[in-house]
Amino acid sequence: MTDVPTLTFHDGHSMPQLGFGLWQVDPDGAAEVVQSALEVGYRMIDGAYAYRNEAGLGEGLRRSGVPRDEVFITTKVWNGDHGRDKARASVERSLEAIGVDQLDLILIHWPVPSRDLYVETWEALLEARNDGLVRSVGVSNFNADHLDRIIAATGEAPVLNQIEVNPELQQPEMRAANAERGIITQSWTPLGNGRSFEDEALTKPAERTGKSPAQVILRWHIQIGNAVIPRSTNTGRQRENLDVFDFELTDAEMEAIDKLDVGLRTGPDPSVFKIL
Ligand SMILES: NC(=O)c1ccc[n+]([C@@H]2O[C@H](COP(=O)([O-])OP(=O)(O)OC[C@H]3O[C@@H](n4cnc5c(N)ncnc54)[C@H](OP(=O)(O)O)[C@@H]3O)[C@@H](O)[C@H]2O)c1
Repeated sequence: MTDVPTLTFHDGHSMPQLGFGLWQVDPDGAAEVVQSALEVGYRMIDGAYAYRNEAGLGEGLRRSGVPRDEVFITTKVWNGDHGRDKARASVERSLEAIGVDQLDLILIHWPVPSRDLYVETWEALLEARNDGLVRSVGVSNFNADHLDRIIAATGEAPVLNQIEVNPELQQPEMRAANAERGIITQSWTPLGNGRSFEDEALTKPAERTGKSPAQVILRWHIQIGNAVIPRSTNTGRQRENLDVFDFELTDAEMEAIDKLDVGLRTGPDPSVFKIL
């Protein structure tokens, strides 16, 4: 089985650097997809209440027969569940839906600054951690000012910030902001919807190494030090996306990929996103 490196959080816990994402995975087929991902060798699953497939996540885990303590499970608190009581209830609901006693990581999905409840939500998640419901606590789509507010309010930094990172949106400033605060950056939509698959910066290293453009992109995420969570409902592509630890991109190849950054998001801007 592929040996995936681990990243260690500032709270001492660790997580596989490459995991499997569940956004847009049909709730009805999610158990099958998760079972397949675990059989292929993934040991980190990225879920969310908003994906409506937490029950499938848990069912896939049980069907796979992989012991619970060998799989790192993340889920997220949705925008409508901000605030002390709702955030706590969201954690409890996710535990129930997935069918586990403890989550390895819980994230605030978006800061939703217009609601101004993310500090309170952060406090509720720290409390859930202190009560043993979750092991580590992080955030997603937080900008530096959002991070600074929750750190100033509680003295505790998130272990991880899951943000959009792909060749066309590399977010070097936000990655540096996370690193300065001891926070691991995890890349969402890491393949960037395939926007750059035909670009020479990817096809050349792909030819040299016998890998695909998608594998070259995932390797780039690994070499910049990010955690990464590609998604595929296809078992062959699940296997392909995990098979990125037997080759290395050269400095010149990394620099050529760095030049693909055009600052274009595939998703919403966290400073204004507020859908509940
Ligand atoms: N925190 C947030 O706000 C947020 C937002 C978005 C995503 N996420 C997380 O990040 C995860 C990954 O992002 P994502 O799902 O948007 O996109 P992604 O992993 O970048 O790409 C998934 C898409 O690429 C295709 N694909 C996968 N592997 C491929 C390969 N080797 N070659 C060619 N095509 C390939 C998949 O199709 P097939 O299924 O047909 O292979 C699917 O259409 C999500 O699942 C979710 O867990 C978080």
